[in-house]
Amino acid sequence: MSKFLLSSLTVAVLAGFSAQAQTAPAQPNDFIQVFAKLFGEHQGVRKGHAKGVCAVGDFTPSAAAAARFDAALFSSATVPVTYRFSMAGGNPNVPDYARSPRGLGAQFTLADGSKHNIATLTTPVFGAKNPENFLGLLKASVPGVDGKPDLAKIQAFRAAHPDTQPQAQWLAANPPPWSYATAEYFGIHTFYLADKSGEKAKIRWHLQPKDGVKGLTEAEIAQQNANFLDERLKQRLTDGAVEFDWIISFGEANDSDIDPSQQWPERPTLNAGTLRIKASGDASCSNINFDPNVMSRGFSASADPVLRMRSPAYAISFGKRLSGQ
Ligand code: HEM
Repeated sequence: MSKFLLSSLTVAVLAGFSAQAQTAPAQPNDFIQVFAKLFGEHQGVRKGHAKGVCAVGDFTPSAAAAARFDAALFSSATVPVTYRFSMAGGNPNVPDYARSPRGLGAQFTLADGSKHNIATLTTPVFGAKNPENFLGLLKASVPGVDGKPDLAKIQAFRAAHPDTQPQAQWLAANPPPWSYATAEYFGIHTFYLADKSGEKAKIRWHLQPKDGVKGLTEAEIAQQNANFLDERLKQRLTDGAVEFDWIISFGEANDSDIDPSQQWPERPTLNAGTLRIKASGDASCSNINFDPNVMSRGFSASADPVLRMRSPAYAISFGKRLSGQ
């Protein structure tokens, strides 16, 4: 056998091996199953972000956004918005002082009846760069027969998958929000947005609270008050609307558009408008699936695999909870 043939065979065999050793692609239902193992089965509620509160209000685009972008959401006047503030995870009884992300979903209804959804977190990055590593981290966190998570196993997984570290580090370094109204909410993924010159801008964005960013103190966390966020929001709304600026950042060539575990460096921004929350505590969001891939004309999704995984996973959760499962 020639040397060349031998080395080609070696390469082919090794390639076969490494393909086998690769993690199998994560499936949407894998997440629903692992959430049930982590948080228990809770019928009729969201399998992620199980605890939350609905709110209603509107959105007014800025003149700068209307001038720059060719996007239905930014060219219309004020549109109505249904919101949901939430706690991450599938436990509907998780305490409000938990060191986990908070979420904000918003569904905009445009003048022609079309919908635009966003679903954001209070962390600037996500917990993994792709669905496989997120699933691996969740699986490593499932408690053993003694009912306790195996911390060494979780640590080993994080060490082997560095993309699962930045979100945990951010959560360790920043206190949980004092109120749903005093947190920044990040879109995290990269999106593309058509501008009036026919180009597509590569963007990320976050919502900046006009009430300012304020976290719980260590003493407040120690009080272990399990349910204050809904009431604090309701109380705050008696003084008038809660507002957030929608801040868009413009990515540069080297900024990843597929890795939600990496934060972009500081980039030029544009204030695209004001989200306003006027009342909370009704049932307006119960039957909404805040699938972030439902977008109005002008916006498009990046190839971020985590963003792609969200639609099918949310659809399964939505179907289950609407049918009482
Ligand atoms: C593979 C990654 C992810 C999976 C499998 C996942 C899964 C889920 C599921 C099953 C739900 C419940 C949906 C429903 O019943 O309506 C949910 C809700 C939510 N997720 Fe995710 N998620 C992922 C990534 C993300 C990311 C990257 C963000 C933020 C950028 C996010 C933010 C939210 C929010 C805010 C909600 C609550 C929406 C509401 O209030 O209805 N998720 N997630």
